[in-house]
Amino acid sequence: MLEPLASRGYPFSMSPQKIAPFFAVFFIMLHADAQPKGFNYDEANVPAYTLPAPLIANDGSQVTSASQWQQSRRGEILSLFEQSVYGRKPGKPDELQFTVTSQDNNALGGLARRKQITILFEGGDRPFSVNLLVYIPTNRTGPAPLFIGYNFNGNHTIQSDPGIDLSKSWIRRSENGAINHRATEAARGTSSKRWPVETILKRGYAIATAYYGDVEPDHAEGWKDGIRAFYKTDENGDPLALTDWSAISAWSWALSRMVDYLETDADIDSNRIALLGHSRLGKTALWGGATEERFAIVISNDSGCGGAALSRRAFGETVQRINTNFPHWFCETFSLYNGNEGALPVDQHELIALMAPRPVYIASAVEDVWADPNGEFLSARAAEPVYALFGKEGVGVTTQPTVNTPVGDFIGYHIRTGKHDVTDYDWAQYLDFADRHFDR
Ligand code: GCU
Repeated sequence: MLEPLASRGYPFSMSPQKIAPFFAVFFIMLHADAQPKGFNYDEANVPAYTLPAPLIANDGSQVTSASQWQQSRRGEILSLFEQSVYGRKPGKPDELQFTVTSQDNNALGGLARRKQITILFEGGDRPFSVNLLVYIPTNRTGPAPLFIGYNFNGNHTIQSDPGIDLSKSWIRRSENGAINHRATEAARGTSSKRWPVETILKRGYAIATAYYGDVEPDHAEGWKDGIRAFYKTDENGDPLALTDWSAISAWSWALSRMVDYLETDADIDSNRIALLGHSRLGKTALWGGATEERFAIVISNDSGCGGAALSRRAFGETVQRINTNFPHWFCETFSLYNGNEGALPVDQHELIALMAPRPVYIASAVEDVWADPNGEFLSARAAEPVYALFGKEGVGVTTQPTVNTPVGDFIGYHIRTGKHDVTDYDWAQYLDFADRHFDR
């Protein structure tokens, strides 16, 4: 048991100069935690690798046109990702119910209309629901384009707005106002730094979010309380065992159900929906965007291993480490590639290529070495030949750009200063990217 600090003679009377080294040690400890030991963080030690070629079909023939890509090669790569990384998904349920549980036309001091919607899935063993929060700008003409993304700790954390329902779901982290994995009033607005809602609304965009834990709680046994316990067949009606899909495919499947709702909402321009996600939810956004073409723009923020970063580089987090620490995120087959990334039939540049010809944005952060920022850039770059089939330019540069210098046309990329996070800088780039591609 630790003694109280004061009884150990903790030097409260020390000068700032003397205290500084304590903070330095604390910072290094924090930093060390973000960069676990025993992994490669040195570019010189990246193993030699050859990336699978997105434009060589399974039968060895060369793909030379956008129509060949759309009609056959895209489907081949999608199946390879389903089989080896993320697993399959159910189809759209026949019984899908949307209930607007609250609406406030004067939210955030009149800046927005706020709606909360329960999306109820039926057709499995029991009803199952996900709660969607949507803010729509008041000052607009016609339906609003929209950003959508999952949040990590409940809808009530993205704004301190007391009108947002407190989540009743299991919350992964018992911190920031969650106690014993349940939300409390103190949790309101605790993630608002990552969600500049007012800025987004003032730029004319609506914003929608849902708590990913409504779909499947994020732990190894979470499937028991999630949709993987609920649906037993895939989109073709074939049996879907638990290990045939994954938490990431479950989370991304529910994103499609949110689009099903948004298509019914007259306030939203459902042809202009930008999907974004951070970190594990960035991996989810990429798989969600690959499998759902109704997302017109897809944005990956610091998604790292199993997201935008190339697996074969084994830089920072590796396939083995991610499968060991998060065994529920990927399908069972992915673990066959532990320590053997070179045998994967795909790599993550092909995931990015699955967005083509839609605009996609990949963002990294300098201190987020665990996520392999250069591997994220190289992946974005290696997706370019697929965009070229459509006559679209990708990142447009051959080496990682300097810090805080966004590049790219249909494949946007930046690396910003700072750590693993979603910042105002990131959002500023996403808003500009969406303005450009949505002709605003
Ligand atoms: C861990 C994990 C990453 C993941 C991140 C997150 O660091 O190793 O793969 O992206 O958590 O989601 O916050």
